[in-house]
Amino acid sequence: MAGTPADSAEEKIIIFDTTLRDGEQVPGSQLNTVEKLEVARALDAMGVDVIEAGFPISSPGDYKSVVEISKIVDKPVISALTRAREKDIDVAAEALRFAKRGRIHTGIGTSENHIRYKFNSTPEQILEVAAKMTAYARKYIDDVEFFCEDAGRTDNAYLAKVVETVIAAGATVVNLPDTTGYCTPYEYGEKIRYLKEHVPNIDKATLSAHCHNDLGMATANALAGIMNGIRQVECTINGIGERAGNTSLEEIVMILKCRKDLPFYTDIDTTKIVKTSRLVSNLMRMPVQPNKAIVGRNAFAHSSGIHQDGVLKFRENYEIINPADIGHSDSSIVLTARSGRAALDHHLRRLGYVLTPEELEVSYKKFLVLADVQKSVSDEDLRNLAGSDKEAVEDARRIKVDYLQVVCGKSAIPMATIRLVIDGEKHLATAAGNGPIDAALNAVRQLIQQKVTLEEFLIQAITRGTDDVGKVHIQVENKGKVYYGFSANTDIITASVEAYIDAVSKVI
Ligand code: KIV
Ligand code: ZN
Repeated sequence: MAGTPADSAEEKIIIFDTTLRDGEQVPGSQLNTVEKLEVARALDAMGVDVIEAGFPISSPGDYKSVVEISKIVDKPVISALTRAREKDIDVAAEALRFAKRGRIHTGIGTSENHIRYKFNSTPEQILEVAAKMTAYARKYIDDVEFFCEDAGRTDNAYLAKVVETVIAAGATVVNLPDTTGYCTPYEYGEKIRYLKEHVPNIDKATLSAHCHNDLGMATANALAGIMNGIRQVECTINGIGERAGNTSLEEIVMILKCRKDLPFYTDIDTTKIVKTSRLVSNLMRMPVQPNKAIVGRNAFAHSSGIHQDGVLKFRENYEIINPADIGHSDSSIVLTARSGRAALDHHLRRLGYVLTPEELEVSYKKFLVLADVQKSVSDEDLRNLAGSDKEAVEDARRIKVDYLQVVCGKSAIPMATIRLVIDGEKHLATAAGNGPIDAALNAVRQLIQQKVTLEEFLIQAITRGTDDVGKVHIQVENKGKVYYGFSANTDIITASVEAYIDAVSKVI
């Protein structure tokens, strides 16, 4: 558990995941119901307290996902979003009929901007609607959350009135979104403190933070909120969401786990973070930026010589999170032109080469020349450095793609024919698949029958042109160990095959 209470003085922060609602608003990332159920199961397994399953009146798809998620999820509360309108609330209540514990999440804009230019209304009228719709939702369900949209830019004295009114009308949770991601952490924290000090019935409801990342402050704002009285954080996996996204679940949870001086904990099983992040990234077709905190591919990759040496001596010199705590197999020491002797020695030993200091010195010089040209250095290059002649190593490379042809297109059954040279001998295979890449990898699997589980498969374009090079990163698992493969090519099918072979060769 993240920051499980060391003593009873620690307070729980409720994790409200809105990946399937705010996260799903990202253009191009829409999920079908089966995919949403898969994400909901992963969130449940990770221990989130509340799953926001959708906005039922917005589309039949959202309605259906709230119904279906309610049926399969037992532990987390299922929340359904509505505007402050009777019809929205009716539909949400109906969609929640199978939920063991359902919540209606209703609300309205409270900032001057929203009141004037979105609703063409007055503060008094908005107050009236807020009270009326909260009470209306309470007729259906005991758990009603009210959101004061654009609370970040709402005048504090008026916001206090709204909060007091909706609590009096029956809201059990009050959400204070920084909808536009405008607040600074100090300002957001002060806003929450103001409400705690000026709303007489504030202790009758849980205060929730829902922060957007337009200025990169979503997680910092949620934390500032917690320090001042927020006890529920609305967040998404990988921080996805409208525009620049929301507070990222993994960031807020790991802050509370790592910083033992903060008297808070969550019930999240952090070892499931990486797996869930990858699931969401793959299903939503949203690659995670490599340097993303906690879940980025480089979050535990050390490339400079000083850092590599420090990590190899004592992990905590440069790592504040144990990779295992979030379900990462290990930190990775990446070999680049900035790597030092310690990193080179580490990798050579991993491959079975134990060099004397003099031999290491010779290899290190060769390594620097190579790394300068190649950007990163593979295991194969290392074997070469460790003493063998380069030509000989190239020739003896165990598996090479000799020929690849793929047939695909609208209405065509994707088929691939591949010829591999394995240990100098040619082998041919043909296979069909779900698409051209699947067909090509199925053909490879016929020839290399090494059992591996594909954990990550990511294709990224470098520029936006149609003539772009596609970079393929693959991660496979074998007997609990993770192996990475990489290739880049303007032909993404060839790149995919080479990346797969790169990873599987390491297993072999
Ligand atoms: O950002 C926001 O204000 C929202 C509300 C609908 C909760 O997403
Ligand atoms: Zn939002």
